[in-house]
Amino acid sequence: MGRPTASRVWSWVGVLVALLLPAAAAGAPVETPSIFSPVSTPAFAIRELSFFVLGITGVIFFTVAGLTLYVLVRFRRARGDDEREPPQVYGSHQIELAWTVVPLLIVVVLFLVTARYIWGIEGRAQPADALEVTVVGHQWWWEIRYPKLGIITANELHVAVSDPGSPAPTFITLQSADVIHSFWIPQLAGKMDVIPNKTNRVWIEPERPGTYVGQCAEYCGTQHAGMLLQVTVHSREDFARWAVAQKTPAPDDAGARKGRELFASLACINCHTVRGTTADGRFGPDLTHLMSRSTIGAGVVQNSPENLRAWVDDPNALKPGALMPAMKLSRDSLDAVTAYLLTLR
Ligand code: CUA
Repeated sequence: MGRPTASRVWSWVGVLVALLLPAAAAGAPVETPSIFSPVSTPAFAIRELSFFVLGITGVIFFTVAGLTLYVLVRFRRARGDDEREPPQVYGSHQIELAWTVVPLLIVVVLFLVTARYIWGIEGRAQPADALEVTVVGHQWWWEIRYPKLGIITANELHVAVSDPGSPAPTFITLQSADVIHSFWIPQLAGKMDVIPNKTNRVWIEPERPGTYVGQCAEYCGTQHAGMLLQVTVHSREDFARWAVAQKTPAPDDAGARKGRELFASLACINCHTVRGTTADGRFGPDLTHLMSRSTIGAGVVQNSPENLRAWVDDPNALKPGALMPAMKLSRDSLDAVTAYLLTLR
């Protein structure tokens, strides 16, 4: 081991700065799942708290690292040292009190400030006109229900923008159909676990239209990483239009009759619902307006005709572990079923 030369010390300082800089890159483009680009109230509060905690821990880090560097450089072995051991200090009450009490005070401050933020967020009363959504976590997709609007969809949550002058929050009830998941859209709100036989609540109040990405944040099995979530924040008029379109029953396209009959004769209908038909399964996503969604398999692939056909043929080829079985249809039947699904706009 050589001596820590000044240039080596500076190169380590450079590495540290490079590691810490991205954390300070606030105001990045909106469509990144970064807690430093919030667009909704609970996420604003969480960024505030994060900066406070990062500030305190940053001061601690730079103090400790600075002193360590100073000691390493200042007291490094020098030519002509007499190899004597420096004075050893034991049992100093002042020093031990200082390094016990100061960290204790810091932890108490962090605890109290965090508790205040948590209570502030959880104490928000639900206004009578708030949009209500129930999100149910499944292995590995999100069921999304609007009980007051009579809409059921999957993996893509749509809400109206909230104007700080006249807030329009969305209150989300979280339930699980199987194991523990976690609902997290970093730019909108904090993480909330989705627990079987327990109902949790979160609320969001996005102030800017756009699309915000989220992800299941609790390991829930093979396709935990393939359990993506997308929130589209519309203007109020656009949201009203979206809701009207979602409420209409599935169209009965004469050109897709063959596929429709085939679909109704297969096991598809045990798991999927297409409103207005005999398909009323609840195990898989509601397909009534399948083609209004941008992805298949909870964000795993784009919802294109080719991907849809490949998905119906063998979901596990696109999403290994997916609970939908391969339907083993003939080429003709596969084409007919895909053609029918493509009419579900
Ligand atoms: Cu659901 Cu991880």
